[in-house]
Amino acid sequence: MKLPVSLTLRLSLLFAGATACVLLVSGLLFERAVEKQFHKHDMEEMNGKMDMVREVLSNKTSYESIKALNPQLRYAIVAGHPDMTITVVDNHGTLLFSVGQEKMVKLLLDGSGVTKTQPVTLSLDNHTFRIATDSLELGIPSSRPANVAISLDITSDQEFIEDFKMFLWIGIGGCTLVMGVLGWMAVRRGLLPLKHVSTMLADISTHRLDNPILISEIPRELQELISAFNKMLARLNCAFQRLSEFSSDIAHELNMPINNMMVQTQVTLSCEREAMDYRTNLQSNLEELERLSRMVSDMLFLAMADNGLIVPTREVIYLHAEMVKLFDFYDALVGERGVQLHVSGAATIVGNRLMIQRALSNLLSNAIRFTPEGMAVDVTISEDMDNAMITIENPGQEIPAEHLPKIFERFYRADPSRREGDTENVGLGLTITKSIVEIHGGTISAKSEKGRTCFTIMLPQHGLN
Ligand SMILES: Nc1ncnc2c1ncn2[C@@H]1O[C@H](COP(=O)(O)OP(=O)(O)OP(=O)(O)O)[C@@H](O)[C@H]1O
Ligand SMILES: [Mg+2]
Repeated sequence: MKLPVSLTLRLSLLFAGATACVLLVSGLLFERAVEKQFHKHDMEEMNGKMDMVREVLSNKTSYESIKALNPQLRYAIVAGHPDMTITVVDNHGTLLFSVGQEKMVKLLLDGSGVTKTQPVTLSLDNHTFRIATDSLELGIPSSRPANVAISLDITSDQEFIEDFKMFLWIGIGGCTLVMGVLGWMAVRRGLLPLKHVSTMLADISTHRLDNPILISEIPRELQELISAFNKMLARLNCAFQRLSEFSSDIAHELNMPINNMMVQTQVTLSCEREAMDYRTNLQSNLEELERLSRMVSDMLFLAMADNGLIVPTREVIYLHAEMVKLFDFYDALVGERGVQLHVSGAATIVGNRLMIQRALSNLLSNAIRFTPEGMAVDVTISEDMDNAMITIENPGQEIPAEHLPKIFERFYRADPSRREGDTENVGLGLTITKSIVEIHGGTISAKSEKGRTCFTIMLPQHGLN
């Protein structure tokens, strides 16, 4: 597994690396500049001597006068340069003039390693020489140009350059090391605010989710990160609160039927009873257990829907026909309550038939429940190019405006008298309906005004063709 490299180490290495690169390039340029300077200086020296030789020899009108050149004059030419050797040969290779070390004279006469086009360096007895050659016109009438070669001992220059290079590279290495250490210290200091931030983050517990980190205390570079973190904290807080409300709601909802069963069973067992009494008690417990079972399966459905585990099958559903089937199902209840059901319009969608039936049934059962005797529930179905629309509208007591946004929440019942002790309804119907509609890519909304409550479902018709 690849271990994460510490930020401090990474930045220090990058810092040291960048410093090394800059020093390396400057060192190389500096080294080249020094070498060039030495070379230029040597060439000026040799060219100067070359001019002197040219001047002396151009005055001589015979080979003899060249050979008999005054030794003092010879050594005057190389005065101040004991490390210089000069040879002049005629075009047949015969030595006309020489001054300097014997060995070097021979080497220059040999011509080995010497080219005419450019000055070269060569080694002799652990010494390094720079050599320049040229041709020169003699003062002898009708003579051909002679060749002159000059060598200059540059050993000390070379040693100086070598020492210079060594110190340069040691300096670069040392500087890189020092910059690495300084960089490490600087990065550690620079990252201190990060430590401060991580201490603040470590302090966040489930009780402090509503306390965002103060952006003003954070360095500018980290503000964007912390602001994103604060937003995440707010979402977490919201989810956490919903979860804890949900846990207490569910505990409350489960508590009631369990308590009922317990009390009834205790009362039944408190003395000897007739078989009929036990039967009645069991019947009542069964009703509570059915309620519990319905609640648990509703919760399971919602949990699966929340986690995206429900994928609806795709079949064609004729909404008018489905509504008529539901009317038949509620026929007995409607008759008992003296309520009428009307449906108009038609539309076709693609989706899961059982789920759509459940959603519509939840809305219809609510509407029937809240419609006063003798009045009617109106269902209108319509469609356009993109959506099918179903509205279920009933007269009756309005849902107060402050409750309207909450009626799709779990266990929410607008009528306070029904929140306690209602054994029939648990307050999950609309939550499940909303889930089903959303699973099908649709939306649901509620309106309650002027004595009428209306739920509208919009379902997309894509996939119909
Ligand atoms: N058509 C309606 N008219 C007036 N109030 C309504 C209507 N439909 C829903 N409500 C209000 O919204 C609340 C939530 O409805 P929901 O269907 O979610 O729960 P429920 O009907 O009480 O219980 P469940 O559907 O789980 O048996 C209801 O308790 C009721 O107060
Ligand atoms: Mg309901």
